[in-house]
Amino acid sequence: ERAFEVLVASNRGPVSYAVREDGSLDAHRGGGGLVSGLSAIGPEIQPLWVCAALSDGDREAVRRTVSEPGVRMLDIDAHVHFDAYNGIANSVLWFLHHMLYQTPLEPVFDAEFRRQWGAYESYNRAFAEALAAQAAEGAAVLVQDYHLALTPGMLRELRPDLRIGHFSHTPWAPPEYFRMLPDDIAEQLVRGMLGADRLGFLTWRWASTFMKCAEGVADDVRAVFPPGGEGRSLLEHGAGAGHTEGGLRRETDISVYGLGADADFLRRRAHEPDVADRMAVLREQVGPGRKAIVRVDRTELSKNIVRGLLAYRTLLEEHPEWRGHVVHLAFAYPSRQDLAVYRDYTAEVQRLADEINAVFGTPDWTPVVLHVKDDFARSLAAYRMADVALVNPVRDGMNLVAKEIPVVSDDGCALVLSREAGAYEELHEDALPVNPYDVTATADALHRALTMPAGERAERTKRLAAGATAMGPRKWFLAQLEALRAG
Ligand code: G6P
Repeated sequence: ERAFEVLVASNRGPVSYAVREDGSLDAHRGGGGLVSGLSAIGPEIQPLWVCAALSDGDREAVRRTVSEPGVRMLDIDAHVHFDAYNGIANSVLWFLHHMLYQTPLEPVFDAEFRRQWGAYESYNRAFAEALAAQAAEGAAVLVQDYHLALTPGMLRELRPDLRIGHFSHTPWAPPEYFRMLPDDIAEQLVRGMLGADRLGFLTWRWASTFMKCAEGVADDVRAVFPPGGEGRSLLEHGAGAGHTEGGLRRETDISVYGLGADADFLRRRAHEPDVADRMAVLREQVGPGRKAIVRVDRTELSKNIVRGLLAYRTLLEEHPEWRGHVVHLAFAYPSRQDLAVYRDYTAEVQRLADEINAVFGTPDWTPVVLHVKDDFARSLAAYRMADVALVNPVRDGMNLVAKEIPVVSDDGCALVLSREAGAYEELHEDALPVNPYDVTATADALHRALTMPAGERAERTKRLAAGATAMGPRKWFLAQLEALRAG
């Protein structure tokens, strides 16, 4: 097996396969912020990207030894993957970090949970073993996200020579929420992550909550916050933590890398002919002289699409002058449909959109145009023509849509942005901030966004785009790689 100097590991890889009717394989690009970030690394690094086979098509590709250069898909047993991905990663860890539990009834940590946790361990081990087998001596390994929180610790045991990093693309739960996890599991998670030499987060807010959680789970973990915000943040752990002596003491660096939008790629891609075609169709759907409020999300509980629609309905109720003069382009692409709560949520989004159209629509005006079929060219078309962007997640690691829209906007776009999105830390000065739970305030913000003077809108969009592209994906990746190699 070839020994690689740089390895990346994530659940979802850059490519996914589907089996066509004639039995051939159709390759398409994976979705989500993580894949967008890592896909732009650039040719000179040539990492090995280790990911899981997610679909039947992916498993078929592994069997037929079809692959993209530099990508290694792991054919983990489908039941193990299901329990690790749907059971633990998406139903426990995602819910925890995004604070999505309906706490009177959830979560319940019982024997079924323990069984699924066993699958999560096996799944993490499969990654650790694959990475250990393919890494060169002293190679840098960049492990991604909550699916693979145990992999750094397991990998360190197998290959103490490696430089191991882990990056969280999600928020991190605050300590009192994190404490809902069974104590032994919370400790295992933290210790798994502390197997890394360096841990990266999207914002300081998530980095500092992780440090507080880590300190809370075990006596031998001590958080060192840099005085006055200057210098290194780190976690000391092992025997001797908190003392300068102590042979077994280890340190894990904590850093923040605020992943931004890929300006060159987006600007080029947004001006290709298929995007222009989609714009023509969307312009028809919006109608001449009307404003467009755009949102583009996976149909994800944390994205708060239902409250977004309620806010739009409130806008039409409170400001009847907008009736017939605005259209909400809501793109909500199905996600994690193996989970019933996601299917229910998807249905609720559809129901509410239909209801708004039934109540307010007229023969020549459809208030909400809901698209559910993932189409990147159409998303870019909507980005370019948006007058207002609605990005209102209840909690979000970063939110790249908020960063992408200002970059490709044709005439400037007013950004209504949740203060619970990681992107808010960087963009708040030129966005219109909202409390994502406050539907009334969100409706007000939409009104202010729609009435923002064109000059101001253009100025703000320019500054938003500058902030949004300050650390594009290449820079984001190279900065981490360099820090990891520097030791
Ligand atoms: C977020 C996560 C990623 C994940 C993506 C899409 O961005 O941080 O790890 O890949 O959502 O979710 P999915 O479950 O479809 O991979």
